[in-house]
Amino acid sequence: MKVLDRVALASCCSSVSSGDDNSFRVQAVFEDRKSLKISAMALRTLTRKLGIGTRLLPMFSSASPLHSHATSFGFKEVREDEKSQMVGNVFSNVASNYDLMNDLMSGGLHRLWKDRLVYDLHPFPGMKHLDVAGGTGDVAFRILENINSTRHRALQDGVEDGLQEDTQIYVCDINPNMLNVGRKRALERGLGENQSLKWVEGDAEALRFGNDSMDGYTIAFGIRNVTHIEKVLAEAYRVLKPGGRFLCLELSHVDIPVFKELYDYYSFSIIPALGELVAGDRESYQYLVESIRRFPPQEKFASMIADAGFQKVEYETLIGGVVAIHSGLKV
Ligand SMILES: C[S@@+](CC[C@H](N)C(=O)[O-])C[C@H]1O[C@@H](n2cnc3c(N)ncnc32)[C@H](O)[C@@H]1O
Repeated sequence: MKVLDRVALASCCSSVSSGDDNSFRVQAVFEDRKSLKISAMALRTLTRKLGIGTRLLPMFSSASPLHSHATSFGFKEVREDEKSQMVGNVFSNVASNYDLMNDLMSGGLHRLWKDRLVYDLHPFPGMKHLDVAGGTGDVAFRILENINSTRHRALQDGVEDGLQEDTQIYVCDINPNMLNVGRKRALERGLGENQSLKWVEGDAEALRFGNDSMDGYTIAFGIRNVTHIEKVLAEAYRVLKPGGRFLCLELSHVDIPVFKELYDYYSFSIIPALGELVAGDRESYQYLVESIRRFPPQEKFASMIADAGFQKVEYETLIGGVVAIHSGLKV
C-alpha cells in the first residue's frame, strides 16, 4: 500500500502552489512548533473572549463500544434504523447554507481538494461515472468541465475519434434537498439542460445501478455519514466495471502533535459556533465534526477498501491528515 503524505498545514495557513504536474501541493512549513503552540493558545484566548467555545473537547476515546444493532451518530450511540433519518435531518437542515459553510469552514480549501480528487480520477470523454453522496454537484461539475476541456483540446488537435461518445455522470444522493441545491447550481452554470448530468435519489448502501456498469465511482465527504461503510464499498465494487476506479475524498485524522490540538480546538469550538452564527444550527455542525472523529483512520479505511475486493489501494493525505483521498481499482 502506497502512502503519500504530501501535504501538511503551514502554521495554520496553507501555502498552495501548482506543481509541474498541475497538481496542488501544499508545502509543509512546520518550521517552528513553538509558534504553533502560541497560535493555539492565542486562538483559545480569542475564542474565550468572544464567548464561543469554552467547553472541553469531548472524551471520544471513552465512548462506549457499540453493540451489534447500534451505530454511531457523531459521539452518540443510536439504533441503526434511526441513523439514516438523523443524518437526513442534518443535511436537510444544512442544505441551504451548505456552500457558504463549506467555504467558511475550510477557508475555501474544499475546492482544491475536490479539484485534486477529479485530477486523480483522470476523467475521459464517453465515460460513465457515478458520484455518490454528490448532492450539490460540486464533484460532478468538475468532472464534466474536465471532460469538456479534454474534448476541446482534442478537437483543436484535430482528433475526433471517440469524442462523440455519450458521457454520463450520475449524481446520486439520498437527500432530495441536497439534490435540489445541485440542480439549482447546474441551472446557474448553464448546465440545466445538459444531457450528460443525471440526478438520482438513492442510497449508497443499495444502489439502483447494474453490475459492472460504471467506469468511475467517487464519493466526497459522504461515506462517513452512512450507516454501513462495508455495504457502500461492496456496492461501489459491484457497480464498477473491471478496470473501473473507486475514489473517496473524506475528512480524516490528524496525528501531528500540536497541530492535532489546534485542529481539535478549531473543530469542536469554532465550527459549531460558526454553524450557530451563520446557519442558526449548532447541532448539525457538532454532528459533522463528531462524525469525522468516528470515521476510521486512513490505514484502517484503506484495509476496508481492500476487503471489499479492490486492488492497488492507495491513499494520500492532505493538510497533515485533515483530508484523505483513498483509491482502489476493480480488476
Ligand atoms: C457533506 S455532504 C457532501 C456533498 C458533496 N459530495 C460535496 O462534497 O459537496 C454529504 C452528502 O452525503 C449524503 N448522504 C448521506 N448518507 C447517504 C447515503 N446513505 N446515500 C447517499 N447519500 C448519502 C447527504 O445527503 C449529503 O448530501
